[in-house]
Amino acid sequence: MRRPWGVLALSVVAVSAASAFISLQGPPPSPPPSGDPVQPIAFPHNTHAGQFRIDCQYCHFSAERSLSAGIPPVESCMGCHTVIQGRNRPEEVNKLREYWNRGEPIPWVRIYKVADHVRFPHMRHVSPQGGNLDCSECHGAVEEIEVIRGVAQPLTMGWCVDCHRKKEASVDCTVCHY
Ligand code: HEC
Ligand code: HEC
Ligand code: HEC
Ligand code: HEC
Ligand code: HEC
Repeated sequence: MRRPWGVLALSVVAVSAASAFISLQGPPPSPPPSGDPVQPIAFPHNTHAGQFRIDCQYCHFSAERSLSAGIPPVESCMGCHTVIQGRNRPEEVNKLREYWNRGEPIPWVRIYKVADHVRFPHMRHVSPQGGNLDCSECHGAVEEIEVIRGVAQPLTMGWCVDCHRKKEASVDCTVCHY
């Protein structure tokens, strides 16, 4: 009865070595700050948040409640775009309908991202009971940007800590680091 266990133990080692290899490779890298991510649909923030004054949190619905601000699901786009074809870029709205018809989520490319060892809670920054900061403090005048192509701020530790000092928020290592 010893031999099969030995074989089993060996294959467990082999499997975990293989998965360690896979996890070392990690997820696909997000674009560098200066990069120019090509989004699956050219989503115009200036039209939605500027011209039509749709509230940021109508789409980024969880900013006041959780760590992430949230990216809207296809359903929230279709509330308007079943009827609105768009006069300037109707072909982009066609792409949106194709994702909807296939029942697929839109694979948006992530732009703002801190390192995995850093904790960034949106709700602590934007909720009225927290920092009560405007989105533009960190993301710039998004309502004027046609397509977001890069970050408005460096997202370095110095940037975080400078504002924390100014606003008398905690600069304790453990509030930001896991
Ligand atoms: C009609 C829905 C809608 C509204 C309104 C909207 N957004 Fe967005 N936002 C999106 C979508 C879709 C994306 C993903 C595509 C992209 O990155 O351009 C996005 C992406 C972003 C990103 C980049 C996310 C990343 O990948 O890191 C930021 C920052 C952002 N929005 C901020 C804002 C702010 C600030 C406002 C208000 C001034 C706003 N948005 C209004 C739909 C919306
Ligand atoms: C509250 C209504 C509303 C929602 C929700 C909405 N849109 Fe729009 N969208 C509009 C309006 C209005 C226009 C401008 C149409 C025009 O000027 O002809 C537009 C324009 C666009 C355009 C450019 C088309 C053009 O010709 O201007 C794209 C692409 C687009 N929306 C994608 C999206 C996506 C993706 C979502 C979901 C993340 C979304 N929209 C959510 C109302 C909305
Ligand atoms: C104090 C700075 C700051 C403020 C204020 C802020 N953000 Fe962010 N935002 C960030 C950082 C940093 C990231 C990257 C977070 C990460 O990687 O976990 C981010 C990521 C995002 C993302 C992409 C990922 C996600 O969280 O879903 C969206 C969308 C976004 N912010 C929208 C908003 C909106 C809308 C507001 C206002 C309601 C806002 N942010 C306010 C700093 C800020
Ligand atoms: C523009 C100013 C500003 C920037 C930039 C900023 N923060 Fe903050 N942050 C605040 C304020 C103000 C608070 C305190 C909110 C409150 O009182 O609840 C806070 C609170 C926090 C908290 C909760 C602290 C606690 O005591 O539990 C964390 C975690 C945090 N920030 C992380 C970050 C990280 C990580 C970055 C950079 C990626 C960052 N912040 C950038 C203003 C900022
Ligand atoms: C307000 C949030 C915040 C606080 C407080 C904070 N850090 Fe950081 N730290 C960050 C962010 C954001 C990064 C990622 C920077 C980047 O990717 O460029 C980081 C990165 C780091 C790194 C990695 C450096 C690298 O090259 O990636 C170390 C080590 C570190 N911090 C240590 C500390 C120590 C020690 C303290 C306490 C004295 C501390 N941090 C306090 C936000 C914070």
